[in-house]
Amino acid sequence: MYFITSNEGKFREVKELAANYDIEVEWLKMEYIEPQGSSLEEIAKLSAEMLTEKVDGGFVIEDSGLFVEALKGFPGPYSSYVFKTIGNEGILKLMKGVENRKAYFEAVVAYFDGKDVHVFTGTVSGEIAREMRGEGGFGYDPIFLYNGRTFAEMDTEEKNRVSHRRRAFEKFFMWLKEKD
Ligand code: IMP
Repeated sequence: MYFITSNEGKFREVKELAANYDIEVEWLKMEYIEPQGSSLEEIAKLSAEMLTEKVDGGFVIEDSGLFVEALKGFPGPYSSYVFKTIGNEGILKLMKGVENRKAYFEAVVAYFDGKDVHVFTGTVSGEIAREMRGEGGFGYDPIFLYNGRTFAEMDTEEKNRVSHRRRAFEKFFMWLKEKD
């Protein structure tokens, strides 16, 4: 199955996850313009519908974001832009002196089976760290604390046991298996 993303970190995680279900995922490395939307679900759905015009046959995409409670859900659907602009340092600055560190990641998988788009979501709750920690992962991983360690302090296998991406893809893969 084709997984469309320009993000190698995502592809690495999904390839490992899919292997547990004997599903082979091929990387279709492609940048596409994400439509604006107020939820990840809406964005993932619209992106998939747009891509049906450009890609032959079925494919899967995934849209994710970080939602910080004290920032009223920011950066949420704007996570990609915010990461490219103010990055982890910017989030830490916004969170300076803030006691409520609660945050969650959400991932939305959109699968086009050649006819319809199907959507699956997953979340993981954690906290925003007080400083960046760890060398692994990608994106906001160095500032996302789960059980006392950041995602960047875990290897792919460990992160994959609990991540938002794991939870969304697990739902998708189980659905696929049941359908066969
Ligand atoms: P998008 O889904 O590619 O639009 O990603 C949104 C933003 O969230 C990007 O800046 C990613 O780096 C970041 N992001 C997505 N998933 C993760 C994750 O598992 N860990 C850390 N950052 C992530």
